[in-house]
Amino acid sequence: MPQAVRRTFVLGTVPVALVALLGAAAPPSVGSPGAGDPYFPLAGNGGYHVGHYDLTLRYDTDSRHLDGKAVLYARATQKLSRFDLDLNGLKVTGLTVGRDKADFRRDGQELVVTPRRTLHKGQWFRVTVTYNGKPAPVTDPDGSLDGWIPTDDGAFVAGEPQGAMTWFPANNHPKDKSSYDFTITVPKGRTAVANGVFLGQATAHGRTTFRWRQSEPMAAYLATATVGKFTVERYTTRDGIQVYNAVDPREADAAVPVLKKLPSVLAWESKLFGPYPFKAAGSIVDRAPNVGYALETQTRPVYDRAPGLSTLVHESAHQWFGDSVTLTSWKDIWLNEGFATYAEWLYAEQHGGDSAQKSFDALYARPASDGLWEFPPGDPGSGANIFGTPVYARGAMALHQLRKAVGDRVFFRILRAWAGEHRDGHGTTAQLVRLAERESGKDLDGLFRTWVYQQGKPDAP
Ligand code: ARG
Ligand code: ZN
Repeated sequence: MPQAVRRTFVLGTVPVALVALLGAAAPPSVGSPGAGDPYFPLAGNGGYHVGHYDLTLRYDTDSRHLDGKAVLYARATQKLSRFDLDLNGLKVTGLTVGRDKADFRRDGQELVVTPRRTLHKGQWFRVTVTYNGKPAPVTDPDGSLDGWIPTDDGAFVAGEPQGAMTWFPANNHPKDKSSYDFTITVPKGRTAVANGVFLGQATAHGRTTFRWRQSEPMAAYLATATVGKFTVERYTTRDGIQVYNAVDPREADAAVPVLKKLPSVLAWESKLFGPYPFKAAGSIVDRAPNVGYALETQTRPVYDRAPGLSTLVHESAHQWFGDSVTLTSWKDIWLNEGFATYAEWLYAEQHGGDSAQKSFDALYARPASDGLWEFPPGDPGSGANIFGTPVYARGAMALHQLRKAVGDRVFFRILRAWAGEHRDGHGTTAQLVRLAERESGKDLDGLFRTWVYQQGKPDAP
């Protein structure tokens, strides 16, 4: 093809298609308002990666007022004349990029920032946002509350999938993982618990400041800053993991015997999945009647009531599957929930309970009309379904089928390879299939297609 004709093609057709794809004709130096997630199109943002968040918060538990300062250390992945952060509600009182004041405007959950000088690709830059107000949770497509959820003595703070933006300006998609520092000031007598290692606390003028450091990369949805009246317990396990448990005294009787098992659960999971991925661990048990779920907040899951042992096993397993190895699209949520549910089955199997086969059989016995078969775990269809039964139960069934196909030795090698090779990173379903095929030497496309992606109840295995 003559050069001129080809150039016409390139300059003519491709940009038109691209512009059509992007909707509006924004200049190429503008960071996109979302990370491209099909279920949560505005979650996260394009054009930069946040390496570190430094969050300084002050929460008044009586007035429920939050004062915040967020410093983000970020790197431009493209030329950036403008970029977005995610922030829902709250009032922004100041915003600088580097030392310069930046222009900003609010547009729904988008905080649109125009730095004084265009950032060049690869440039590291610092964004400082001061903000305040009464944080309120968002309601997820499944109807549950998500984010900063006030309680009678503080706040239950959990952000899956989108609630992080209710309490700090974030690149709010799990594709972007960052380290975090937290400095949280609350009235004396209350405790503020975040992720990672406890660095210390100090009380002055009727307020106590708690400092926390999450040094391994973390997705924004796994951040917490839960505040309440807690009884605190600290110790280091034999493996050197720093444990910090914060328990609502009203839940203590039921919670304490279960939390006692945390070191043995983590040790058992480490044997199965490989070394525990973080320096710190622990639990936050915070009575929160309007929540209705627990969340695997990184290093330190948060429970809305005293958990049962299987819930402790589940949230602990997420530290490997979900927290350390993180999804890149909410559609892949079965990689979190299927694995954590299968960990519960394995725990039962190895501790005198039902075998995984029995758990599988009991589910498989459900009629084709049952909600279990409503959609496949690998394709829930929308954000309203990401925490549905098929994601958890059929996700675990898929792993059980994988185990049966490759045998125990190879199956557990696959789990360890998955956790080890993607540690502190990300993983997709396609990568899991490739890894499982590599480890087993078997063609597993059909198995994953049937158990992860096929609509309706699969034929008997
Ligand atoms: N990942 C949590 C679990 O392991 C569930 C979180 C549910 N969140 C929600 N917004 N519905 O059980
Ligand atoms: Zn889970």
